[in-house]
Amino acid sequence: MTAPIYEVRNISKKYGAVTALDDVTMQLYPGEVVGLVGDNGAGKSTLVKCLSGVHQPTSGTILLEGQERHWKSPHEALEQGIETLYQDSGLAPHLSVAANVFLGREETVPGILGKMGFLAQKKMDVEAHQELDRVGIAVPQSNRSVSQLSGGQRQAVAIGRAVAWAKKVIILDEPTNHLGARQAGEVLQIIKTAREQGLGVIFISHTLPHVMEVTDRIVVLRLGKVVKDAPTSEFTVETLLGTITGLITD
Ligand SMILES: Nc1ncnc2c1ncn2[C@@H]1O[C@H](COP(=O)(O)OP(=O)(O)OP(=O)(O)O)[C@@H](O)[C@H]1O
Ligand SMILES: [Mg+2]
Repeated sequence: MTAPIYEVRNISKKYGAVTALDDVTMQLYPGEVVGLVGDNGAGKSTLVKCLSGVHQPTSGTILLEGQERHWKSPHEALEQGIETLYQDSGLAPHLSVAANVFLGREETVPGILGKMGFLAQKKMDVEAHQELDRVGIAVPQSNRSVSQLSGGQRQAVAIGRAVAWAKKVIILDEPTNHLGARQAGEVLQIIKTAREQGLGVIFISHTLPHVMEVTDRIVVLRLGKVVKDAPTSEFTVETLLGTITGLITD
């Protein structure tokens, strides 16, 4: 059996008096999609922020490919191949699709943004288009400003950016929110492609049929604790719902 690509052991996170995560342990394997579910306030986004370097856990250990890590910033985690799409995701609306795809990558692609002349701009448009295309996202013109896109198209750009850059792990916090059925289906397809590429994917959603469709395993959080960690095939939407709300406690 392969080793986990990303792992947390006995992580707790306190915000002052609030315990948002309480002794959470979970593993993510390469080529695996893990669903992270739980009611509002269960601690999902807090776990995401610990995994992506936004927050440091109060206690516990984070291991990337078996090595203990103490992220000091999201940038550090990003450099190590961990991409995160936050629930309150940050696209810059006034910038073009292409600029958004490359936002924050100035150091990794000096050839492109080092000389931000007209030609560089064009090259960026083309490469952004190729990257989005590679991960299966069709955005009409990557030189268009993000503020001119629909909500669903913006979400697609944000996800495409994350999948295009992810080297090891991709964390998606409610990526199908506010999407129509077709767009949500496309996002699920992108997740499947990421899995085929051998990435480890953490997928967070309140839409349980989406979770059932795309995940291999589901971790249920309740009040900051893991109450269930089992293969998706062991759940139905009904038992998953019961486990989330606490009606089912096995
Ligand atoms: N920055 C913060 N400061 C203080 N408390 C916080 C902070 N962020 C989250 N919390 C608290 O931590 C707990 C977990 O919140 P978190 O955002 O992780 O939940 P969630 O599972 O993502 O919920 P949702 O499904 O609503 O997005 C909640 O009680 C919340 O109020
Ligand atoms: Mg959340």
